[in-house]
Formats: sequence, C-alpha cells, structure tokens
Amino acid sequence: NMERAVSRESLNQSGGETSDYKLVPLRGFNLISGIHNPEAVDKIQNFEIRDSDVFVITYPKSGTIWLQQILSLIEVKGDVTATRDQLNSDRIPWIELVESEKQFDSAPSPRIRVSHLAYKFMPLQLKQKKGKVIYVARNPKDALVSYYHFHKYANMLETPKDFDSFFEKFMEGNVYGNCWFEHVKGWYSHKDEMNFLYITYEDMIKDLRSVVEKIISFLERDLTTQQLNDVVEHSTFKNMKTNPQANYQQVPVILLNHQLGAFLRKGTVGDWKNYFTVAQNERFDKVYQQKMKDVPLSFKWDMS
Ligand code: A3P
Repeated sequence: NMERAVSRESLNQSGGETSDYKLVPLRGFNLISGIHNPEAVDKIQNFEIRDSDVFVITYPKSGTIWLQQILSLIEVKGDVTATRDQLNSDRIPWIELVESEKQFDSAPSPRIRVSHLAYKFMPLQLKQKKGKVIYVARNPKDALVSYYHFHKYANMLETPKDFDSFFEKFMEGNVYGNCWFEHVKGWYSHKDEMNFLYITYEDMIKDLRSVVEKIISFLERDLTTQQLNDVVEHSTFKNMKTNPQANYQQVPVILLNHQLGAFLRKGTVGDWKNYFTVAQNERFDKVYQQKMKDVPLSFKWDMS
C-alpha cells in the first residue's frame, strides 16, 4: 500500500516535496527516491521463497492494477464484498516499495506481490522453481502513451514537457522501469528456469475470461463457473473504475494528483495511434525489430 508503505518518515527523508522525488539508479536500474529504498531492493534477491508465493511482474502501465484486482478476486472466489475492507494495493502490494519488503518475511501465505523490477533483482530461489511468476506484457507503444499520462498525474514522477520529450525519455529508458525491451527480454529469456506464465494486456482486452481461466489453472485454484464469472465481472474496466478499492482514488495526493488524471484512464488497445507521429512510429518499429530480433516471443501485437 502506497499510503502505508510510503511512510511519513521516508517521505520526510526525501523532503516530502514532490520536486524531491527523483530517479536513483541501482545497478543500472532506476528507482524512485522516497518510494524505494535501494538497499532494501538489493536484498530482495535473498528472500526465502515459499512454493505458494506469487509474483506478478510488469513494465509500468501494462496492467498491474488489473492483475491486482483479478488475483484479489480469485483469492476470495469472486466475492467482491470480501474485498471491500482493503485496497487492492494492500492485498497485493509492490514488493519494492519502502516498508513492503520488511513485511514480506513474516507475511502469511499465499504471499502475492506485484513488481516492476528487472529480472536481476528478483529472488534467486524463483530459479529453483519455487513460487510462481506471472509476466504481463503490453504493446510498448500503448504502454508509452499510458506512461506519458501517468507522468502528468503522478507527483513522484517528473512532469514531461510534452509528448515528444517523453517519447525520447522512454526510448532512452530514462524512466522508472528503464528500457521496455530490456525488461521484457530480461524476464522472458529466463522463463524456463521458473514457474512462469506469460500473458498480454491485449489478450485480456480480447477475452478476459480465458486469461482469468489460465491464471486460475496456473495458480492451481479451484473456482466454480459462477465464481469465475464473478471474477471477470468485477475486473472489467467499467466496474473497476467505480470501485474505490480497485481504482487507486484513495492513494494520497502527495503521490497521485487525482485532479490531473486517473489510474483507470482509458483501458483500450491502440491509443498510441492518437499520439505517435509517422516519424516516431517508423523509428519505434525499427528499434523494435532490432531489439526483439532474437526473442522467440510470438508477439501478436498489431504494431502498425
Ligand atoms: P491506460 O492509461 O491506457 O488507460 P498499470 O496498472 O500497470 O499502471 O497499468 C495501467 C493501465 O492499465 C491503464 O492504461 C489502465 O487504464 C489499464 N487498466 C487497468 N485496469 C484495466 C481494465 N480492467 N481493463 C482495461 N484496462 C485496464
């Protein structure tokens, strides 16, 4: 939970002023000062992993909050009233947030966490096929556009001058999460070492129910058809947008300026077409071809 995890103390250490949040590199990966503690993040790799642990890994703006909602609901068998007592970010916190890592060791099973971290920071025991990893990928062009809007809305991130300047930042990997290509490649190239499920945002848009079924079977949970229907129903964009436990509207203004945006912004595929110039698109495609040429990912994205 950002509210609790980002304690007063840590905010004070960083000055508590929005302008004091900045990207701080740890082993070549950008963290956000005041939100992450580099020393603690570097210890995550030594965590003792239980077979029941689940990590949802995403590049920012690829559907993290969506998975928080889906997994929260799966755990209570679709009963949305059972999720009303807690924000989804409390139920399924970021492993890398200040304070969150401290609670990991003693937390009850199943420990379900989300993370934007690069592969190299993750618990080494995942490679002994302990625990489970769900990687959610989104067409990077849409992730870029979503991230652009998020930078305007999030007080802990620098407000971009305009779309073009954010485009450059993203291409340079000069953002939290760094380079999209490295993130997805880093995780995907190690997939066979882990209990690993790869899903895409676009598949969830196309057929949420099938993806939820896939997740349920990967996690070896047992839900009736009605319970599955309920999980799907309460995970739609429309229903999450009006569900205060699911839409992050309670995250304090010091982190998110709710007047400037919403976490559940648009929830569509292909919004990049409204932002990319022809030249930016050509450039992006070239980089994509080059960076992804040795990745056996069957990306189904319509990049054009
Ligand atoms: P947009 O900005 O394109 O709308 P993350 O949680 O990783 O930060 O990702 C946020 C993105 O996921 C936002 O994209 C948000 O709208 C989208 N999203 C979250 N829940 C969704 C849902 N139920 N259906 C569709 N998109 C969803």
